[in-house]
Amino acid sequence: MSSPVMLTMRGITRVHGHGAAEVHALRGVDLAVAMGELVAVMGPSGSGKSTLLHLAGGLDSPTSGTVQVGRDDVGALDAKGRARLRRKHVGYVFQDLNLIPALTAIENVTLPLELDGASARKARATATAALAEVGMDGLEDRFPDDMSGGQAQRVAIARALVGPRRLLLADEPTGALDSVTGEAVMRVLRARVDAGAAGLLVTHDARHAAWADRIVFLRDGRVVDETGSAAGAETLLDGAAR
Ligand SMILES: Nc1ncnc2c1ncn2[C@@H]1O[C@H](COP(=O)(O)OP(=O)(O)OP(=O)(O)O)[C@@H](O)[C@H]1O
Ligand SMILES: [Mg+2]
Repeated sequence: MSSPVMLTMRGITRVHGHGAAEVHALRGVDLAVAMGELVAVMGPSGSGKSTLLHLAGGLDSPTSGTVQVGRDDVGALDAKGRARLRRKHVGYVFQDLNLIPALTAIENVTLPLELDGASARKARATATAALAEVGMDGLEDRFPDDMSGGQAQRVAIARALVGPRRLLLADEPTGALDSVTGEAVMRVLRARVDAGAAGLLVTHDARHAAWADRIVFLRDGRVVDETGSAAGAETLLDGAAR
């Protein structure tokens, strides 16, 4: 009845540093995200949200616990296997964008497609459509340094969502966007998830979290609350504010 699980995280801990400098970024997190499901992750600064996304995408390894993407046990993959998983199956919008400054908007978006072996012409057509989806048509040949923060963010989003990604990880993708563009980005993300991807979205904005099927609240590296549906979020957020 329910959709197959795409992302499974079990007993995840992540300790940064050693000795007196030890930081427990995550202290035992269990999380599963199904195909077609968008889960919002909320919580105060430093609660472990970005760490959780890095681990989900195989960009970082947990101190203990296991991460599974589809049938792949990420910890059991070698470096090459992990790179392949990230390149082919995971779309990642980083909190700090990571656009390549020497490449134009369209080149930034075509890059992952060409790395996957798409022809230049096919990659360009797909990337053009992805940029149009986030309202960046007409700005394809602009370099990141000549874009506003919001424009750069939209290119990063187009790049992350392009191609058949199975797992979409977005770390505050709407942070630098005005509310209209932010809504447009959420609509694209939601559509990709509805088409079968699993999505994990970090946001501070309750309006954006409302696009999710479920909200997970982190505090000090632990899941402290979870809503079964986005509708419950308002109640929890109201409760927290009081
Ligand atoms: N590479 C690192 N080395 C040492 N400590 C780190 C490292 N990365 C994260 N941390 C620490 O781990 C904790 C969780 O960080 P994380 O970036 O996951 O928080 P966050 O919830 O994403 O915060 P924000 O909302 O500010 O982005 C913080 O205390 C942070 O200082
Ligand atoms: Mg963060």
